[in-house]
Amino acid sequence: MSVRPQPRPGVMQIDAYVPGKSKAAGVAKIHKLSSNETPLGPSPKAMEAIRTFDHLELYPDGAATKLREAIAARYGLDPNRIVCGTGSDELLSLITNAYVGPGDEGIFTEHGFLVYRIAIQAAGGTPVVAPEKDLRTDVDAILAKVTDRTKIVFLANPNNPTGTYIPFDEVKRLHAGLPPHVLLVLDAAYAEYVRRNDYEAGLELVATSENVVMTRTFSKIYGLANLRLGWMVAPAHITDAINRIRGPFNVSGPAIAAGIAAIQDEAHIAKAIEHNERWLAWLTREIEALGLTVTPSVGNFLLVHFPKETGRTAKEADSFLSSRGLILRQVAAYGLPDALRLTVGDEEANGLVVAALRDFLGEKHA
Ligand SMILES: Cc1ncc(COP(=O)(O)O)c(C=O)c1O
Repeated sequence: MSVRPQPRPGVMQIDAYVPGKSKAAGVAKIHKLSSNETPLGPSPKAMEAIRTFDHLELYPDGAATKLREAIAARYGLDPNRIVCGTGSDELLSLITNAYVGPGDEGIFTEHGFLVYRIAIQAAGGTPVVAPEKDLRTDVDAILAKVTDRTKIVFLANPNNPTGTYIPFDEVKRLHAGLPPHVLLVLDAAYAEYVRRNDYEAGLELVATSENVVMTRTFSKIYGLANLRLGWMVAPAHITDAINRIRGPFNVSGPAIAAGIAAIQDEAHIAKAIEHNERWLAWLTREIEALGLTVTPSVGNFLLVHFPKETGRTAKEADSFLSSRGLILRQVAAYGLPDALRLTVGDEEANGLVVAALRDFLGEKHA
């Protein structure tokens, strides 16, 4: 064997995250509906903040103080309990690195967001999968997986790619059933989109517990995915740990400036919510009317299920849609080989997707 640097045990067993496609060969216009990005784009105020940003030669405020204050003001939080990151992905990794090591177990659900598995493996821990029920988190199944070695439980609520959620009562039941040394990570990347009376992202639970963290993102409803910006709120002892291991300047100045402008632009968010409510319902209805099954979603995306029959499979549908410039997400890596995930797009894209699916099912593509 050649003598060369070797990654830590387990690193080469990680299946790298594969982002949603953004290209289709030979198509004039692409509609990227593969990464749950907003069709409305960012707040014009956030764009203006970036355009007028000056002094790139200076390091940013490593504590992102003004952004933490803006987030705190928006949600009624203590800014000292907030840590900002390069997307919530970075925060999920930092949290895992701080609390999970070799021999430790981390739990997530069967079709849960793939970054949890990667973060646990990267930290040297063992991923433990809790089965879901009807593509929905099953609290009892998670609790049944808890052992002496469990250090962390990830719950995406709503979950990506299923689009399903569990009511806040269930989140509280999960928390109540966990031993106090287990960290519960509530990933609320899509919280802003949810319109359900029994849903809460869980800020109250974070505020009243010693072992609950919430992660949030500017990538989804705020439309700032390319800037890479997220935040977490946690008890002081946890923010203390994360601040010790994060990069000293992990969030850039333009991201801080845009984040502040975005979180204060409530009119833009209201518009995005309204757009999503209208088109999520429309897409669900229209796609079901074609005879396909759609998992009821509370996010800005839908999981569409295809038959196994040759000519009608998810894979074939994906190729057909791609040939028309409609890029959806294959979700076989999430254990869902017969489904495609569709992000709610603008009016044009939504109409084109339904028309393309109609043609696909009508024509049969062997
Ligand atoms: C459930 C969930 N959590 C976290 C993220 C990561 O978001 P970001 O790193 O862009 O903040 C995503 C992105 O798709 C997601 O779906």
